Amino acid sequence: MRREFLPFTRPSVTDAELSEVADALRSGWITSGPRVEAFQKAFAEYIGVPHALAVTSATAGFHMLTLALEIGPGDEVVTPSFTWPSAVNMIEAAGATPVFADVDRHTLQLDPGSVRDVMTQRTRAVIPVHFAGQPADLDSLRALATERNAILIEDAAHAVGTEYRGQIIGSHGNPAVFSFHAIKNLTTGEGGMITTSSASLAERLVSLRFHGVNTDAWRRYAGSARAGYDLFEPGFKYNLTDIQAALGIVQLRRLESMNSRRTELAALYDHLLAEVPEIERPARVSYPSRSAWHLYQILVDRDRAGLTRDDFREELKRRNLGTGLHFLAVHELTYYREKYPSPPGRLENTEYIARRIVSLPLFPDMTEDDVRQVVDEIRDVVRPGR
Ligand SMILES: Cc1ncc(COP(=O)(O)O)c(C=O)c1O
Repeated sequence: MRREFLPFTRPSVTDAELSEVADALRSGWITSGPRVEAFQKAFAEYIGVPHALAVTSATAGFHMLTLALEIGPGDEVVTPSFTWPSAVNMIEAAGATPVFADVDRHTLQLDPGSVRDVMTQRTRAVIPVHFAGQPADLDSLRALATERNAILIEDAAHAVGTEYRGQIIGSHGNPAVFSFHAIKNLTTGEGGMITTSSASLAERLVSLRFHGVNTDAWRRYAGSARAGYDLFEPGFKYNLTDIQAALGIVQLRRLESMNSRRTELAALYDHLLAEVPEIERPARVSYPSRSAWHLYQILVDRDRAGLTRDDFREELKRRNLGTGLHFLAVHELTYYREKYPSPPGRLENTEYIARRIVSLPLFPDMTEDDVRQVVDEIRDVVRPGR
């Protein structure tokens, strides 16, 4: 058994990040300033979009997007229930109605067939999640959205570096929201980025991000001393700091190599777990894709593995191995269950998966031996007495 606890994830931080953050701290400008500008520019170039807007979290991004796109009371927004309740909460905060669609039982991605089934005249937007780092089926979803005159907003919280049909997520013409929360592939501790090709949307978001005021502190500081400011609508305080952006700039430079490492480790898991028939591995999507491998997940079914998902997680924890739970079904969480009761079985795949899903340790600084140990312990847990 391992002596040291192996967490399910750990941020990869090198001397380069430490030094860039120290430079930011020493520079005399620590809130949004030149490093945020540089981070946005580098991110926009990486994705290949004209506009990238750094925000305090992906949730802040969804909050502003619902307002900027005028999603509100009377509107329905279709999104998976098998997700973190971030976009769903922001739909609710906008006064709109979240409508849950099911996911594919094997790939865990939003099922366009289920989206079609729940769309109505009131559907204003569809928010797919590129779940665990694989891309959702954007072409099918865009066709559905266009048919109904609805907007597509991509939840790309798991998908920095993901590609759909050879093109990177964030560059498909829809507003996309990335997360840089501590467990994400690229982290700034907390943070996020909205990408868009629309100059008018970007302009509105810039204003909403900073109180609704038309110039931020950095521009006022760097620009003419006489420049004043004006306010056109009440906005928020969702701007990233230069300290966080310093981290982001270096993380972005390292992203491709960190994602490659995740891909290698995931391939090793696949190889080793192929010999453990008690464990089910989610399937790859059928269309051309590149996964960012945000999460490596398995399904633990009591009939097949001999124990429940929760007991399985406890067993691994006893063996000093951390796991994650991504996610419970949003429609089964108290607020949503009470407000929008869903007949049992309507979200059949979501419910099936949410009871069985487990995220195994996966992060760039893990070793091959770590992966081997995890799989050895899993084998031992699902075949007691061997
Ligand atoms: C699918 C998904 N969407 C959105 C979010 C929210 O991201 P943030 O914590 O940056 O607000 C998360 C966070 O875990 C997530 O997993």
